[in-house]
Amino acid sequence: MSVSGKKILIAVSGGIAGYKIHFLIRDFVKKGAEVQVIMTPDAENFVTKLSLSTLSKKPVYSDFYSDNGTWNSHVEMALWADVMIVTPCTANTLSKMVHGMCDNLVIATYMSAKCPVFIAPAMDLDMYAHPSTKKNLELAESFGHIIIPAENGELASGLIGQGRMAEPATIFNTVEHYLSSDIQSRSLEGKTVLITAGPTYEAIDPVRFIGNHSSGKMGFSLAEEASKRGAKVILISGPSFQIINDPNIELYKVTSAKEMLAKVFEFYESVDIGIASAAVADYAPKEVAKEKIKKNDENLTIELVKNPDILKTMGEKKTHQFLVGFALETQNEEENAKGKLEKKNLDMIVLNSLRDEGAGFKNDTNKIKIFTKTEKKEFNLKSKDEVAKDILNFVEAQLLK
Ligand code: C5P
Repeated sequence: MSVSGKKILIAVSGGIAGYKIHFLIRDFVKKGAEVQVIMTPDAENFVTKLSLSTLSKKPVYSDFYSDNGTWNSHVEMALWADVMIVTPCTANTLSKMVHGMCDNLVIATYMSAKCPVFIAPAMDLDMYAHPSTKKNLELAESFGHIIIPAENGELASGLIGQGRMAEPATIFNTVEHYLSSDIQSRSLEGKTVLITAGPTYEAIDPVRFIGNHSSGKMGFSLAEEASKRGAKVILISGPSFQIINDPNIELYKVTSAKEMLAKVFEFYESVDIGIASAAVADYAPKEVAKEKIKKNDENLTIELVKNPDILKTMGEKKTHQFLVGFALETQNEEENAKGKLEKKNLDMIVLNSLRDEGAGFKNDTNKIKIFTKTEKKEFNLKSKDEVAKDILNFVEAQLLK
């Protein structure tokens, strides 16, 4: 993994987080990258061209023309770059980018760029949470740009919330990770990913069971996507009609929660990323009848006992594993999901609400929200294969922090 020899175009807009750009430039230059800095006119109120050009070892431009009458070609700079990073990206600059409001050198350069574009927004929490910012970030993402989300913490206003520009190290790592072409396609090489999928069936007698409508599709899509990215994948699935054609995925079929738990812990120590997408039955019959139960009586009572919580046990025994859980909720969705994140000692939880049409069990589509202890991200309704990409992209971004 290296950025050595890469051409990095850093576009700075007018936010207080501009002071962090010095560290970012230094990181790239230290690793042998060439850095060209451009800035919006307002950025000059926060950082000086002199400090940025001293670190980048190149003149810094903010106007179409220099004082000596030379033309600062936005087209040349845009085509020169291997990547463009807009950071800090203010609400104003973000809005101009996605709507083509081309009234300064940064936007003109951005609109001429053919390279991958990274955006690290920075703004006050209410501006970051505003629907217009959310919409603009979605638009930027739909153009194929890579958003490096703002972090939670103390803001220049004194308020505390999400809006702080990502740390220079996070921005550097994200770009470095992307630039290594091997890593682009094999981003989980060397990692072992364990996924639980499908329902569990809890036997009542030799022919009947307690189960649920889970199809297993989400877990299988995750397994295929992780395998494409070069991971060693261990897929532990309850009864399901899904099939796997990928010889690199180790598929273990189980029936009950207890079997699933036992299989998970055969591998747990060697696992780097654990994703529990199985819809495990919470209760199982206390006794399994040896023979088929006859319908003699008017009423039949089956005593149920609590099943082991597989994910919670994984959370309790966590040493180095990055743990992802799922929450399928019908009410108080976010609160419940965040509660599970804490209670099960998870690093990340994926919420799907049964209130959202097309989300959850059985469907080929899903609409998710992801939570970590400090972040929240909402996604649109997508196929489960696309959702698997979003989930793994999010996991990878967390691992870089
Ligand atoms: O507590 P709840 O069942 O809503 O939690 C859902 C999450 O916990 C899912 O990730 C699911 O796979 C996991 N889970 C588990 N074992 C259980 C119950 C849930 O691994 N017995």
